[in-house]
Amino acid sequence: MRHQVVIVGAGPAGLMLGRLLELAGVDAVIIERKSADYVLGRIRAGVLEQGSVALMDRAQASQRMHAEGLIHHGIELSFDGDSHRIDFSELIGRQVMVYGQTEVTRDLMGVREATTIYEAEDVALHDLDGRPWVTYTKDGQTHRIDCDFIAGCDGYHGVARQSVPQQALTTFERVYPFGWLGVLVDRPPVADELIYAHHQRGFALCSQRSHSRSRYYVQVPADEQASAWSDDRFWDELRARLDPATAEALQTGPSIEKSVAPLRSFVAEPLRFGSLFLAGDAAHIVPPTGAKGLNLAMSDVAALADALIENFVEKSAAGIDAYSAKVLSRIWKAERFSWWMTTLLHTFPETGAFGRRIQRAEFDYLAGSRVAQQSLAENYTGVVTWE
Ligand code: FAD
Ligand code: PHB
Repeated sequence: MRHQVVIVGAGPAGLMLGRLLELAGVDAVIIERKSADYVLGRIRAGVLEQGSVALMDRAQASQRMHAEGLIHHGIELSFDGDSHRIDFSELIGRQVMVYGQTEVTRDLMGVREATTIYEAEDVALHDLDGRPWVTYTKDGQTHRIDCDFIAGCDGYHGVARQSVPQQALTTFERVYPFGWLGVLVDRPPVADELIYAHHQRGFALCSQRSHSRSRYYVQVPADEQASAWSDDRFWDELRARLDPATAEALQTGPSIEKSVAPLRSFVAEPLRFGSLFLAGDAAHIVPPTGAKGLNLAMSDVAALADALIENFVEKSAAGIDAYSAKVLSRIWKAERFSWWMTTLLHTFPETGAFGRRIQRAEFDYLAGSRVAQQSLAENYTGVVTWE
């Protein structure tokens, strides 16, 4: 078998890249370790920047998103019960779209015309600095695909980054001493907009998927098991971290999903090794506090698609040569913002009284400064344009 590009991983990054390439006439196959249903069963991000929305348009996969996605003009920040609204529209004239990663994935799967090979086991990458090829096993048989380029879109635990010789990559990492316990519930959201709450018991987030489905998170220790949390325990803890009026308004119900996600900041540099390109979570992780993970994956593959198309159609290597430096600049800005939001809003075991006062001062500064609010709004809605 031979294809121009092999994409490893059919998460949002791999599916979007595959779609952009197929629309440009570039022949790309996707190989994915799990089944399509498994990929759709993962409950993850929920907020799309305008750049991601525009990319769904370009992928011709946006019809349902525009019909069902919710435009949000701001978010609510709360600190020990004191609230402040950040009005994106008024501050900087931009908005975000609330539309779940599951739906983005489903829509991209729906429009795809080229082949996706699901349940491909033992994926291995070969000759990355020569003429590359990929092997995988399916139904007990080993297959080989020769190609010009490989796109590693296989997430943080994938094989692509691990196939790069250790001395060729520099990694930067911060592991936070906590995770997020998330619950999905078929009840209307507690508020029209997302609420990010700092509380001395820990961070809480009220998010949503639609007018009838809500997503809530509470900060928990990093090693916490979701099974240790009954629904009642979760709702009690969430209420305790919200201001009394919001806690009172919360509509609870049986959880339809409950899981713990660890929080980590991570970047691998550079994002190219020979004919392998890394994109999305395969290359970098942000803590979810800034809602940047999915959006970064989307902006990576937008740049990678353009670079690969330029290579195949215009026969110019300029784009693929510039890819890593170009996307790293945006990645580090998102890393900084996600780290900052995390630091402001969570409780840290090692933070003493001084650190807590600094967090409070940061919140008060934000609440009182239009410039600080504009900065938050600009970063949250997407700091750089996608061209
Ligand atoms: P992924 O979505 O991880 O997709 C990678 C794909 O590659 C997967 O389908 C995987 O099965 C496949 N794969 C892995 N290894 C192999 C292999 N060896 N061979 C073939 N295929 C392979 N972001 C937010 O903004 N908000 C959130 O609330 C949020 N919550 C998250 C919760 C969790 C538990 C995690 C892990 C991430 C969360 N994120 C969140 C981040 C966001 O979901 C990711 O940034 C986004 O999924 C990145 O997309 P991706 O396509 O790069 O990677
Ligand atoms: C979500 O809805 O899952 C979500 C929203 C915003 C975040 C993180 C997660 O910052």
